[in-house]
Amino acid sequence: MGVHVRRFSDPRELDLAAAEWVGRYLRSAEPLVPEPVLGLATGSTPEGMYQALVALHRAGEITFARARTFNLDEYVGLTPDHPQSYAAYMRLHLFDPVGFPLERAHLPDGAAPDPDEAARRYEALLARFGPIHAQVLGIGTNGHIGFNEPGTPFERRTHAVDLAEETRRANSRFFDDPADVPTKAITMGIANILEAGEILLLAKGAAKAQALARALQEKPSPEVPASALQLHPRVTVYADEEAARLLGP
Ligand code: PGA
Repeated sequence: MGVHVRRFSDPRELDLAAAEWVGRYLRSAEPLVPEPVLGLATGSTPEGMYQALVALHRAGEITFARARTFNLDEYVGLTPDHPQSYAAYMRLHLFDPVGFPLERAHLPDGAAPDPDEAARRYEALLARFGPIHAQVLGIGTNGHIGFNEPGTPFERRTHAVDLAEETRRANSRFFDDPADVPTKAITMGIANILEAGEILLLAKGAAKAQALARALQEKPSPEVPASALQLHPRVTVYADEEAARLLGP
């Protein structure tokens, strides 16, 4: 199988290892590819990885000078200056601290009047600058990757989605009022994710244990979107003990 799982008892070690995984593409000396295209994720899980990447950048070990980034998803209806937009998240955690030129940092345009049209534009950008060399993913408590909610066919490409109630509930912790959580998003599809050269899935905490076990141990099915990763030849999973709890020894 193409999925390799590594468990971490120290979450800080997981963050550092994740930054090293991405950092192979960004090394100031001998990066893996000359013009890396990175697929990036938001959420609580990768925050420590971004912190560690910023530290590697400050130490001069990595450079973003030749990189291009594509984020997985963005909420519909939030402008990039909204603090809960994923554009704002990325500026806060990575782009501003490393001085990344925003014209090479792509996210779906959640503020576009027509989300379907915005999804088509994002797909065209991916076709022009892709394929993504290295894709970082989190996993939802319901097994989603990006905002590909349960039931999404594996062939889907970038599209506008209605968010699952479970996802809105999980993400309400970031909003003042749960009613403020957007109901729609634009996400790269599972087909886009599977086109990446290699994939790193990060999972932290007991709330992810069941989704992670189903994703890795059940027959791939749209009911568990992350199970599609079993169809990819190069997937690495970094999980803390709590998230890996149901994976067996
Ligand atoms: P989280 O989100 O990192 O905030 O738990 C992960 C996800 O929903 O993909």
